[in-house]
Amino acid sequence: MGKIETGNQHLDANSLRYRTFEFINANKPDAPLSRLAGRLLIALIALNVLVVVLETVETIALEYSTALNYFEIFSVTIFSVEYILRLWTCVESEDERYIHPFYGRVRYIFSPMALIDLIAILPFFLVFFVHADLRFVRVIRLLRLLKLTRYSAALSLVGSVLYLERRPLGAAAIVMLVLLIFSSSFVYLAEREAQPEAFSSIPAAMWWGIATLTTVGYGDISPITPLGRFLGAIVTVLGVGMFAMPAGILASGFAQAVKRQEFVVSWNMVASVPLFSHLEAQRIAEIVALLKPRVAVPGEIVVHKGAPGNCMYFISSGQVQVDLTGQPVFLQAGDFFGEIALIEHQTRSASVTTVTSCQLLILDEADLTELMEADDKLAADIKRISEERRAELDQTISRNPG
Ligand code: CMP
Repeated sequence: MGKIETGNQHLDANSLRYRTFEFINANKPDAPLSRLAGRLLIALIALNVLVVVLETVETIALEYSTALNYFEIFSVTIFSVEYILRLWTCVESEDERYIHPFYGRVRYIFSPMALIDLIAILPFFLVFFVHADLRFVRVIRLLRLLKLTRYSAALSLVGSVLYLERRPLGAAAIVMLVLLIFSSSFVYLAEREAQPEAFSSIPAAMWWGIATLTTVGYGDISPITPLGRFLGAIVTVLGVGMFAMPAGILASGFAQAVKRQEFVVSWNMVASVPLFSHLEAQRIAEIVALLKPRVAVPGEIVVHKGAPGNCMYFISSGQVQVDLTGQPVFLQAGDFFGEIALIEHQTRSASVTTVTSCQLLILDEADLTELMEADDKLAADIKRISEERRAELDQTISRNPG
């Protein structure tokens, strides 16, 4: 009893360590306390960032110094407890890398999220051991904002897009670096006699190079010789094209990442429909491409009795009610409806109303015909279920002729 089936065989669902692990990772959707703790932590992180920003205003720092100190001690205590609990419970993770009591924990310490958690508390303890500039240590606390990556899907999306696009971004960075070095060197050669101070060296000319290539153009230094101006014009035009490249790479990276996420969600939905469970991943991916998602609010009539039907529906989440005379039938996630009209080439046999808010996947009649032609088992399953339903339908109608 209490043992749960995962890759991590020693897991004991009743152990304090496992329950703590579940609590701090908010693994269960029906764990309001755990979710509340997560939200409080997010609020604490946000407050910390606000405090660091406001503390740089001298009057606020002086007037509220005691309160701010207590707040810092409170925050570090909470973050430290969180860090220790995460380190203690990481062995309960399903990730094989962290299972070993010693090496697993060492690996966990060096994982990106644990390093971020450590950076959030380390500056506080560091000042006791090494002499450090306090203002610097205070501003370093802004890094606590990174802790939000654990809670924010948007931040982790940015991280994964940057990682996935690292090669094109790296290539763009190299092109920009080459352009910067060439443009700064040439303009240095053209301008160093006319403006020996502003263009005293190639690194000095790079300040102009960056401002021009990025098209910011501060205008504090600019070429005055005809050759320098000619170079300046070329560099500006090149800058517009080249420095826009990373923005384009990131934009397409984000679009692709969002599409991938949507695909994975739809894939999981389709794979969980029992009717499709015998299909290979490739076939499921093909079906995903055919299905159109639709959200229905509670109480919405999705299918009207007597109306013509040109599509069927799969329920990926929520519950619907088939309004059979006398006794409604409830269908839930994994079930489908709206197939009888397509198979019998008739109007809808009953109305179907949502009981809860539902995520539905719509399959058009032509696509259903194609799928049934391509897969005998699928065709037989749908026909069998639809015949059983038709029989039940006819029975209820004969029982309640009114
Ligand atoms: P269709 O006739 O296209 O539209 C109404 C749908 O209700 C029907 O297809 C079936 O999918 C569904 N339905 C009808 N009778 C039953 C039943 N007895 N049990 C479950 N679903 C049903």
